[in-house]
Amino acid sequence: MNIKFSAKLSLFPLTSEVNNQGHLCIGGCDTVDLAEELGTPLYIFDEFTIRHECHQFITEFSKYYQDTMVIYASKAFLNRALAAVIAQEGLGLDVVSGGELAIAHSVDFPLSKVYFHGNNKTLEELELALDWNVGRVVVDNLYELELLNKLAYDKGINQDILLRITPGVDPHTHKYTTTGTLDSKFGFPLATGQAEEAVEQATAASNINLVGFHFHLGSPIFELEPYRLATELVLRFVSQMKRKDSFEFNELSVGGGFAVQYSLDSKAPDVAEYAQAIGEKLNDLIPQFELDYPRLIIEPGRAIVAQAGVALYKVGAIKEIPAIRKYICIDGGMNDNIRPALYGTKHEALVANKALQEESEIVTIAGKLCESGDILVRDTNLPSVSPGDIIAVPVCGAYSIPMWSNYNALPRPAIIMVNEGKANLIRRRETYQDLIGLDTI
Ligand code: LLP
Repeated sequence: MNIKFSAKLSLFPLTSEVNNQGHLCIGGCDTVDLAEELGTPLYIFDEFTIRHECHQFITEFSKYYQDTMVIYASKAFLNRALAAVIAQEGLGLDVVSGGELAIAHSVDFPLSKVYFHGNNKTLEELELALDWNVGRVVVDNLYELELLNKLAYDKGINQDILLRITPGVDPHTHKYTTTGTLDSKFGFPLATGQAEEAVEQATAASNINLVGFHFHLGSPIFELEPYRLATELVLRFVSQMKRKDSFEFNELSVGGGFAVQYSLDSKAPDVAEYAQAIGEKLNDLIPQFELDYPRLIIEPGRAIVAQAGVALYKVGAIKEIPAIRKYICIDGGMNDNIRPALYGTKHEALVANKALQEESEIVTIAGKLCESGDILVRDTNLPSVSPGDIIAVPVCGAYSIPMWSNYNALPRPAIIMVNEGKANLIRRRETYQDLIGLDTI
């Protein structure tokens, strides 16, 4: 009989449980068996959790603002299998490169539901977007506006766009992932008059159709107030612009940034709280500013996939420095999850083959990369660990995989998607031949 166990288990995918061998199971699959069969490091995605999160965003946001479209920010993680799940759930897609666009195209993702973001889309990427009829280009700067207009003119197309506005609102998150403040490489600032200039140029452009506005403040955002404030600033701006320039205000995108709980001591708001804050603000302000109700676009990335993803590692060397620290060394590290080293993210960990054992010591889980900063989890409680044990790290589904590298020439891990007792390999493990094969001499 499977039983639920340990507070840490609540951070794992929704289908997680511990079987009577004391093994962590996800999606009806024994993770210890999976590690044995497929090797480690291994990334596991729980399909049920991904679908559940998609559903949550759609239902919670449309409770407070009916005309909401959810587009998944694919930078959090995209591959062909995931793109297919996102399409089935009816979400649109936010892409930021020709590569993400190509993955979506390869599974026949409905490209009319694709929003193309980015602060320096290349000419080739914009051409591809036009050739494949992407729904919206989210224009970030005047260089792009002119280039896009010329390309659209040459192809005889009228392209729908949103303008990315930088509202000057601090979301109080890591400075590397803050985008809504004035000193940002992204978007047209309100404060400098550049947003106004962008509206003038977009409405005057021959082959551009301005359908709305976008802002994205940063990621992850644990507070609700930045969303309310930015929504107000941008709606006020739109109402001022509508008095002088002629355009339809059909869409407002408030970006992504919805936070998730990574560790037991870092609770995040739930989807309903974000939905209520944003929906109520829109419903208050739209009539006040005498605007027509636009479609609301939201762009969750992290919150769709983070909890669904778990990383499995095998323990090798164990080094104890008496009275100082015990290092448990695993067979992955900052090459497959750079987030702790880059942003100081705090993860929890579980020993997948000893999930029912009492936690008895405080240890530090270190990666195998040649840097002292390659620490995956610092000072965490685990049962007594031995070489060969399997460490499971929850909340690894967002931004770990897309930021993978081959540092120290480590092959990238395999990824599987589990559901109802079945495990599907959705990306194979790299081999040494993959590493060598791209070199031309
Ligand atoms: N929309 C835009 C325009 C974005 O730039 C982003 C994220 C999102 C939506 C999705 O944000 P989310 O809902 O996933 O928070 N590598 C960092 C995160 C960078 C986020 C970049 N933009 C990390 O690992 O935390």
